[in-house]
Amino acid sequence: MARLHALLLGSCALAGALAQTWCGKDYTVGSPIVPPGGEFTLPATSAEPLLAFRCAPAIKPYLEEDAFTPAAIIVDTPITYQQISGAAPITFSSDGPLGELVVTVTANGKFLTTGVVPLNTSKAELPFSLEGLQTQTSAYNVSCSATYSPSLGKTQTFQATTALSYLPSPESGSVTKMDLRSGSLLARPANNPSGPYGSVFALGFYTNWGGYLETNYNLSILDDIASRGYTIVHPVPPYDNLTQLSLVIDRMAELGLYLMDYQNFSAVTEQVNMFKNRTNLLLWYTGDEPDGSGDPLNATSIAYDLIYSLDGYHPVSLVLNCQDYYFPEYSSGADILMQDTYPIGINATWSVEYNTECTPDYGCCGCDNCVGDFEDISNRMDEFRERFEVLGWDRTKALWTVPQAFGDSQFWNEVPSGKEWIVQSILGVNHGGLGIVPWNAPTTDDITNSATVLGKALPTLKSFILSPSAISKQYTANRVDVGLWTVGTQTLVLVTNLNYFNTTLDLATLLPGALGQVTQVYDSGASYADGQIQLESVGTGGFVVGL
Ligand SMILES: *[C@@H]1O[C@H](CO)[C@@H](O)[C@H](O)[C@H]1NC(C)=O
Ligand SMILES: *[C@@H]1O[C@H](CO)[C@@H](O)[C@H](O)[C@H]1NC(C)=O
Ligand SMILES: *[C@@H]1O[C@H](CO)[C@@H](O)[C@H](O)[C@H]1NC(C)=O
Ligand SMILES: *[C@@H]1O[C@H](CO)[C@@H](O)[C@H](O)[C@H]1NC(C)=O
Ligand SMILES: *[C@@H]1O[C@H](CO)[C@@H](O)[C@H](O)[C@H]1NC(C)=O
Ligand SMILES: *[C@@H]1O[C@H](CO)[C@@H](O)[C@H](O)[C@H]1NC(C)=O
Ligand SMILES: *[C@@H]1O[C@H](CO)[C@@H](O)[C@H](O)[C@H]1NC(C)=O
Ligand SMILES: *[C@@H]1O[C@H](CO)[C@@H](O)[C@H](O)[C@H]1NC(C)=O
Ligand SMILES: *[C@@H]1O[C@H](CO)[C@@H](O)[C@H](O)[C@H]1NC(C)=O
Repeated sequence: MARLHALLLGSCALAGALAQTWCGKDYTVGSPIVPPGGEFTLPATSAEPLLAFRCAPAIKPYLEEDAFTPAAIIVDTPITYQQISGAAPITFSSDGPLGELVVTVTANGKFLTTGVVPLNTSKAELPFSLEGLQTQTSAYNVSCSATYSPSLGKTQTFQATTALSYLPSPESGSVTKMDLRSGSLLARPANNPSGPYGSVFALGFYTNWGGYLETNYNLSILDDIASRGYTIVHPVPPYDNLTQLSLVIDRMAELGLYLMDYQNFSAVTEQVNMFKNRTNLLLWYTGDEPDGSGDPLNATSIAYDLIYSLDGYHPVSLVLNCQDYYFPEYSSGADILMQDTYPIGINATWSVEYNTECTPDYGCCGCDNCVGDFEDISNRMDEFRERFEVLGWDRTKALWTVPQAFGDSQFWNEVPSGKEWIVQSILGVNHGGLGIVPWNAPTTDDITNSATVLGKALPTLKSFILSPSAISKQYTANRVDVGLWTVGTQTLVLVTNLNYFNTTLDLATLLPGALGQVTQVYDSGASYADGQIQLESVGTGGFVVGL
């Protein structure tokens, strides 16, 4: 347990006896300085434009019961100058409109759909019917081919492939789908297995079992969690009493709380079989910082394949702790990738635990290759998202964020305040995070109270952030970080002040044109008046703006 606990803390401390490296770096006094390797290869640039033609099903998986509802293949056609996965040269006229592609989609060789998609667009949907397909447990191989016929010049063709899951209904238990237009999870209500599918924004802590959830077998802790507006519970094993665990999951289901289930690599089969028919199971979690501890590079994908062979109805998540250590290998085993960058209260250059320097090649300071600012989090999110784009995984994998809700131990000389915890969380969301799973509960009253206010606002926030039709943007100036999600005629603006002083943001600079009604939907030290958002020191706010 000590080791597990240490690993969860994003920490080489206490793991020392078992591992002398973290993120591939030696970290004990006197150990050799050896570059860790495993760096992500950035794509070469191209002088000529490239088309990164990509396709994916709108929903993963489709089920037998969806046979008569509309289905779609999403097509992305970005023009890029980077040699990212699948990008191929395209020749188009530099003046005039870019033109269109004629796209045809087949599944296992059988015609599925066709349509016209503009060049340099995203999320174009080609509708198709599932009626012509049989459900099967293995995914259909989908081929997408595109023909570009510019008015001048010769016809060019492009190819892409994807997997389409069209599964028989499960024998028991729930299904969690991913909406690949937004990256959101879709599930039936945790407390009503016959209710309609809805989007789920995961908000819930890694929650201690020993000494907390199991305390006196008192289930009222769960009532408290549900009343705060959290949507998930991610209990932290080991569990000393499986009967009790079962009662806890039953009570969670009654309260409408989803389970983010935690395996370890040594017990996947046993644990998946134990939980897979739970009606409130939302997703699996396989890997706790496998990159930090240097697990075999194929460990996450082996666990992923095993879970899909045993279940196949729930996505798989894991968390990475390193900034840049065998990213493609470890993240290949996830549908949902989390990052746990813990920058609050660290000394980024000197390891207070090991009395060594921390550099890109050496040492462990509790936050890999960090500088000790909030931006460590947004930079990590941006890097992970860019790598997904390079790998061609941006449409099929989602990112979640793990904010720091602990401290005053090991590398971290303070516990974040409630407001600092919100800054971390919203920064993660502004940079693409679709779930917030803090380490760990129990935490301070200040953080718990802040998380509760966020939980209450979540239904409004998610109606924008998880909308399949949302158009999102991100913007930063003077350490004020803004996320914008436009759905129809309204825009959600999430603003967070990374500074420890008051500041203001002129809304008109973000949303040109006349501002309609501005409604505050979330408050962690922010207000609005006369076109200006006023932000307190590390204040955060959410506003819905009519256009
Ligand atoms: C493609 O779209 C992006 C932004 O969406 C734009 O910056 C870029 O100029 C466009 N490329 C071309 C070739 O039009
Ligand atoms: C689908 O593709 C996989 C991997 O490329 C291959 O092993 C499998 O045989 C294909 N299935 C069909 C039905 O074409
Ligand atoms: C889930 O599986 C267990 C063990 O196989 C079984 O006892 C239980 O009835 C199942 N629950 C549901 C909801 O099917
Ligand atoms: C259960 O815990 C709650 C607070 O967490 C407390 O108020 C209640 O008295 C406890 N019940 C029992 C039976 O211990
Ligand atoms: C496990 O929990 C159940 C339900 O609370 C209880 O009846 C049982 O005594 C516990 N077992 C042990 C070994 O503590
Ligand atoms: C992994 O799971 C096994 C079986 O449930 C358990 O005995 C072991 O303690 C777990 N290891 C960790 C590190 O949690
Ligand atoms: C996983 O990698 C290890 C080496 O680290 C190798 O021994 C093993 O055969 C691999 N397993 C599979 C299934 O590829
Ligand atoms: C980090 O530790 C070094 C060595 O003790 C010290 O000189 C430096 O001021 C510390 N930096 C911070 C930000 O605390
Ligand atoms: C910062 O703003 C808050 C809330 O408006 C206000 O109470 C406080 O006095 C301001 N602090 C400074 C230094 O202006």
